[in-house]
Amino acid sequence: MAVTAVVGLQWGDEAKGKIVDILSDQHEIIVRYLGGNNAGHTVMFDGQTYKLSLLPSGILRSNAVSVIANGVVVNPKALLSEIESIKAQGVQPGKLLISDKAHVIFPYHMIEEAILEARRGDKAIGTTMRGIGTCYRDKIGRTHAIRMGDLLRPELFRERLDEIVEAKNIIIKAFDPTAEIPTAQELYDEYMVYIDQLRDSVIDTTSYLHRELKNGKSMLFEGAQGSLLDIDHGTFPYVTSSNSSGCGIQAGSGVPSRMIDRVIGIVKAYTTRVGGGPCPTELVDETGEHIRQEGREFGTVTGRPRRCGWFDAVATGHGARVSGIDCIALMLLDVLSKLDELKICEAYEIDGERTTDFPSQLDDLAKAKPVYRTMPGWKSDITGVRKLEDFPKEARQYIDTVAELMESEVGFVSIGPDREQTVIL
Ligand code: IMO
Ligand code: MG
Repeated sequence: MAVTAVVGLQWGDEAKGKIVDILSDQHEIIVRYLGGNNAGHTVMFDGQTYKLSLLPSGILRSNAVSVIANGVVVNPKALLSEIESIKAQGVQPGKLLISDKAHVIFPYHMIEEAILEARRGDKAIGTTMRGIGTCYRDKIGRTHAIRMGDLLRPELFRERLDEIVEAKNIIIKAFDPTAEIPTAQELYDEYMVYIDQLRDSVIDTTSYLHRELKNGKSMLFEGAQGSLLDIDHGTFPYVTSSNSSGCGIQAGSGVPSRMIDRVIGIVKAYTTRVGGGPCPTELVDETGEHIRQEGREFGTVTGRPRRCGWFDAVATGHGARVSGIDCIALMLLDVLSKLDELKICEAYEIDGERTTDFPSQLDDLAKAKPVYRTMPGWKSDITGVRKLEDFPKEARQYIDTVAELMESEVGFVSIGPDREQTVIL
């Protein structure tokens, strides 16, 4: 039985949800290991469309177990309302397990984030305002952190809140004297209601996953965000606050990478980015607008229009290397079908020097001029293609170029939102 991981290789929104959906009925346990309700995963299941943020997609199947592992930051209010919304769509949620080591998001995290982002002005990171970065900041800082397991110990939880809320008031009011945060008692009362509904789900998921690996259970590690948003390997500081490349699987779940049989790197056939930070192949012109409209590139979480551009093999190749992929899933290829000419960035030119290394410093990335390989478009509808041989030769050339530049096999090509609109190589 296989252990598989699905990881985004760009700046998120690579349509990971579709590949996860295709693979999820071949896996008994589905694991989210990073991020929180900043993710926006569109999953089609049984002909219906579901928008998931925090819940692993296994939740839509009554026979799968969904695990929110230790690396995730949990907003219990958002979690419960997501469960309610899928129930309202007629789904009986599958079994859910939440790590007692996962950190908890509180309202003061959102308040702090709003203040910090506003102070950066035009240098704002452009976060999703879900309290993700401020919660991870408290996790790393340790003294102001609360984990799911603490909510099961009411006396300890109440004590921790007293200490933390006092400190948060000092910090937040120093930035903005008019800001108000809920009292420790208010937070205690609110979160005790949440934990009452989640109590049976909160366990040591690390021991659980290892036990089930020993039992030969199949597992799917469901990535969120993308490798270029990784806190260590991405375009810092315009990143998310966790290891969103393949590097995050081990720390975020306690399952070592040697136990994973196959890592599938998900890439869009072009580039998108939401929020701030350099994006060398961004197109601020009609072609960019065309891609945005054809690909319906507007955020699932925040509704923001996504920045669009040509496929960047330098950036994506870096994402692939740090994630350690076995193959690529090339998504949304059909979005490019109407364009006369297509470009793929094969190198950067920085201060007159050509490089295929992804710059580690932001100012170098901001200066990078893409060196493009130009190809003819296929100018025809490919949404009905089901076999590699049936693609027009220009589309084959595009797929082969992505594989060549990324030094990886292509395992899947997606040519539409439906499950059937997938060519498996
Ligand atoms: P999925 O799972 C695209 C981006 C935000 C912002 C930066 C930091 O749908 O691929 P954060 O709120 O995480 O502190 O914001 O990261 N970002 C994403 N962009 N898709 C996502 O997730 C993202 N999650 C975070 O836009 O630039
Ligand atoms: Mg998204």
